Amino acid sequence: MDYAGKVAVVTGGAGGIGRGIVHALLTRGARVIVADVEDGVLSTAVDELGPLGPVRGVRTDVADPSSVVALADDVYATEGRCDLLFANAGVTSGGGGLPWEQEINDWRWCFSVNVFGVAQTVLTFLPRMLEADGPGEIIATSSGDGGVAPVPYASVYASSKAAVSCFIEAVAHQLRTVGAPVGAHVFYPGGGLLDTGLWTAGRNRPAELERVRPRPPAPGTTFPEFKAQLEAAGLPADIVDLDWLGNQVLDHLDEGRYILGPGSERFAPLLHARAEAIGRSELPPTLLH
Ligand SMILES: NC(=O)c1ccc[n+]([C@@H]2O[C@H](COP(=O)([O-])OP(=O)(O)OC[C@H]3O[C@@H](n4cnc5c(N)ncnc54)[C@H](O)[C@@H]3O)[C@@H](O)[C@H]2O)c1
Repeated sequence: MDYAGKVAVVTGGAGGIGRGIVHALLTRGARVIVADVEDGVLSTAVDELGPLGPVRGVRTDVADPSSVVALADDVYATEGRCDLLFANAGVTSGGGGLPWEQEINDWRWCFSVNVFGVAQTVLTFLPRMLEADGPGEIIATSSGDGGVAPVPYASVYASSKAAVSCFIEAVAHQLRTVGAPVGAHVFYPGGGLLDTGLWTAGRNRPAELERVRPRPPAPGTTFPEFKAQLEAAGLPADIVDLDWLGNQVLDHLDEGRYILGPGSERFAPLLHARAEAIGRSELPPTLLH
């Protein structure tokens, strides 16, 4: 794809994986709108990435439908179009651990961003992209955790990402069915250990959705513990360069793939094992089997 002059919107683009995508888009000549809820990080990202190309920030809370509509109004009023939409903003459930120790506010917060946020982003932008009738792409960031198989101690997060993968797959099929010039893709971040702000996602948790019973992080849910688990499972545990990851997403988009992100080939044996177990009516293996 010739990215020069293309308009891209990246939710959750001020930090972590999203910032890597913004970096990759700018180096390829796109014009980028970074939509993020975290004010300070948003202005820092725009200042630091500005020398690479045209980028601006719009403070957006994807969990708030009116905020997403205001983002789209801003983008269409200012840029006149959106060619590439990255629905990337996401959080953990802030708890993790035994599923029955998670609270309903863990579900509410996680789903408000990961599920309703992605849905609202697509529902707001896609009709406008279709109306423009030009080529366009929607990329939703899911996770192998839930999108492929659950990590059991991350039950709420996994459930949210299963919803994202299922929704985007349906969107992609329907876009093909109606012959739309817009495509949809799912992105599974991978390639190793992702040292992002996801581990401190609670910094953006709204006060009204706080846990009723505060508690320290559940075993297995801190960054060092997750690293140890990847190593124990024989999975790649080297820290990934997030700018490289952003470039991988664009490379895979150029290759016409539906699933974007490095390392998706490792899902096939796991999914075969899961299919075998399901065929025998047994409990299927997890992502960290
Ligand atoms: N880090 C991983 O290991 C990993 C693995 C698989 C998938 N993911 C997914 O990648 C995506 C990016 O996460 P990350 O790891 O870069 O974490 P991150 O915390 O570094 O980045 C997420 C960004 O989203 C923003 N954000 C949070 N809530 C928001 C809201 N309501 N509205 C708008 N922006 C909001 C944050 O401010 C932050 O800039 C998420 O969807 C996450 O679930 C991460």
